[in-house]
Amino acid sequence: MKNTILVTGGAGFIGSHLVEALASGDSNTVIVFDNLSTGRIENIPNLENVSFVRGDVQSEEDITQLFSEFTFDYIYHLAAVASVAESVNHPLETHRVNMDATIYLLEATRFQEKEVHKFVFASSAAVYGAEPTLPKTEQSIVDPITPYGIDKYASEKYVITYGQLYGLNVAVARFFNVYGPRQNPSSPYSGVLSILVRVSKQLRKGKNSLFQIFGDGEQIRDFVFVEDVVQGLILLATKKEIQAEAFNIASGEKHTIHEIITICETILEINIPLSYGKTRKGDIKQSYASIDKIGKIGYKPQFTMRQGLEKYMMYE
Ligand SMILES: NC(=O)c1ccc[n+]([C@@H]2O[C@H](COP(=O)([O-])OP(=O)(O)OC[C@H]3O[C@@H](n4cnc5c(N)ncnc54)[C@H](O)[C@@H]3O)[C@@H](O)[C@H]2O)c1
Repeated sequence: MKNTILVTGGAGFIGSHLVEALASGDSNTVIVFDNLSTGRIENIPNLENVSFVRGDVQSEEDITQLFSEFTFDYIYHLAAVASVAESVNHPLETHRVNMDATIYLLEATRFQEKEVHKFVFASSAAVYGAEPTLPKTEQSIVDPITPYGIDKYASEKYVITYGQLYGLNVAVARFFNVYGPRQNPSSPYSGVLSILVRVSKQLRKGKNSLFQIFGDGEQIRDFVFVEDVVQGLILLATKKEIQAEAFNIASGEKHTIHEIITICETILEINIPLSYGKTRKGDIKQSYASIDKIGKIGYKPQFTMRQGLEKYMMYE
C-alpha cells in the first residue's frame, strides 16, 4: 500500500537521513516540510517520490494549507530550533517553534479525515536535565534545565496526551547526542563531533587547526550515529503496539570527549592539538542512556563509535 509520509525538518541533519531511508521504499511518497532556517535544500534527496514544501511550523496558516493539500499516513515531527544555546538566548522565539508548533501539528493531525498510522515526535535527552542518576531510563526523573529541554518535555506531554485523550497513534523518541554526515559544523553551537571531524580533516590536509574543549574533556556522552537514529524512528512508527510512550534512542555506549579524540586520531593517523576553555552554562557532566526499552521492540545499533566515525569521515 502506498503511504504518504510527512517529515517536518526534513531538510535538516537528522531529517534528511530519515527522508532518504523512507524514500528508498518506492511505495512511499515523502513530503518534506521545512523553512530552511538551518536545513539546506541540497540535503533533500532528489527523487521522484520526495517533494519539498517550504513553510513554517509555527504558522497555523502554513500547517492548515499543508493538510489541505495532503493526507498523511505517517508524520515525523523533527522541525525545531535544535540549539540549546539559542533557546537560552531567545526563549520566546524558540518556544514558538519548539512547542506551539507541536500543538498546531497535533491539531491538524487530529482533524485529518484519515486516521494517521503514527505521529512520531523528536524529543531529546535534554528532558532529563542535570539529575545525576545514570544511565537514563525512560523512568528516570525528568527535570529539564533549559528552555529547549522544557519545550521538548512539554511537547512530549502534548503528544502523549493526544494519544490518550483523542486516540491519536503517537510515539516519542528521545535522542541522545546524534552525529553523522550533514551535521552542520559552522555554528558555534554545533555538535561537538561535527567540529572535531572538521578539525581532523583540516589537519589531515596539512592545515593548522585546533580543537577546543569546553571543560576538562572527561565529560561522558552517548553518541549515536544518525543511521541508527533513523532505524529507531522507523521502528517506533511501524510497530503498531507502540502507543503513547517515550523511548530513548541512543547507542548504549558511553565515551569521554578525550576517548573520542583518540579514536579520531587513530582513524586518521594524526595528532589533534587541544585547547581547553571554561565549561559552558547548562552543560551536563555525564549523560548516557539505557536502550533496553527500545531494544525490546527490535532496535539494535549497527554502528560502534569507531565505525560511525569512520563512515562520517569518509563522507564528502
Ligand atoms: N542533533 C542532535 O544531537 C539532537 C539531539 C536531540 C534531539 N534532536 C532533535 O532532532 C530534531 C532534528 O535536529 P537536527 O540535529 O537534525 O537539527 P537541524 O537544525 O539540522 O534540523 C532542524 C530542521 O528543522 C527546520 N526548521 C527549524 N525551524 C523551523 C520552522 N519554524 N518551520 C519549519 N522548519 C523548521 C530547519 O530548517 C532544519 O531543517 C530536532 O527536533 C532536534 O531538537 C537533535
